[in-house]
Amino acid sequence: MLEVKNIKYSYNKDYQALKGVSLKVERGQMVALLGKNGAGKSTLFLHLNGIYQPDEGQVFIDGEELKYDKKSLLKFRQKVGIVFQNPDDQIFAPTVEEDVAFGPLNLGLSMEEVQDRVEYALARVGMSGFEKTAPHHLSGGQKKRVAIAGILAMKPEIMVLDEPTAGLDPQGVVDLSKLLRELNDEGITIIISTHEVDLVPNYADNVFVLVDGILIGEGTPKDIFAQPEILEAANLKVPIVTELFQQLEAEHGFDMHGDYPLTIAEAKDKFLELFNKS
Ligand SMILES: Nc1ncnc2c1ncn2[C@@H]1O[C@H](COP(=O)(O)OP(=O)(O)OP(=O)(O)O)[C@@H](O)[C@H]1O
Ligand SMILES: [Mg+2]
Repeated sequence: MLEVKNIKYSYNKDYQALKGVSLKVERGQMVALLGKNGAGKSTLFLHLNGIYQPDEGQVFIDGEELKYDKKSLLKFRQKVGIVFQNPDDQIFAPTVEEDVAFGPLNLGLSMEEVQDRVEYALARVGMSGFEKTAPHHLSGGQKKRVAIAGILAMKPEIMVLDEPTAGLDPQGVVDLSKLLRELNDEGITIIISTHEVDLVPNYADNVFVLVDGILIGEGTPKDIFAQPEILEAANLKVPIVTELFQQLEAEHGFDMHGDYPLTIAEAKDKFLELFNKS
């Protein structure tokens, strides 16, 4: 449903941030984009609803090529909502409720519907009660939640979130991951960039790895975390539970037969299997 075809993008003549990126995300998937600082993740995301126009290549949504006139952009932005990496780039209204209402108001919805959506979106990100607060009085993590609520209130089919858990406290990270899972179960296609490798295997159907403006890997978390050369090129690490089992194998002779747990749930099963054998 969302396809990026051979996108190239330069910020200035001598620096190409995207060097020909192609990827496909199917309806209902939840995918993660991984890559080190400066790899081009944010640059790529800003192409997904036409904030940036590529120098070369195209973006397709439901088979339709993204065009850059005002009318087409408005249509595509109803389908694809982007939560920016830095909430200060997103939030600008004098109060939280006005900010979250901005998108739905632009859709021409009734005041009542807008009010309902603002209430709904703030509740889902755990920010009910902050309606009248000035955004600049919020903490970083609270701003992030409000920015997410602003996109949620648009009820997009595809949500693109650029490092949504950065700056959240540990419980906030867990809560947000759970929220994204729920939204995905409700049918929203979700694309996120993140550095939190421990969480990726819990939710991602597919993982893309970007290095210096080029996609060097695509696959399930199991595929990607089993390829040391990709991990090294992208400054990535395996999830901490995976590292534990790699060490148990290397240092204590437990044979994992190439099947390393990626999540706590998988690790529990593996421990029980190992203990039952011994
Ligand atoms: N506005 C800009 N003008 C010039 N160069 C830019 C601009 N924004 C980003 N770049 C450059 O483009 C490259 C890709 O940046 P981008 O922000 O897309 O990386 P990223 O993968 O999102 O990194 P991070 O993990 O730090 O968020 C970097 O080398 C960066 O310096
Ligand atoms: Mg970025």
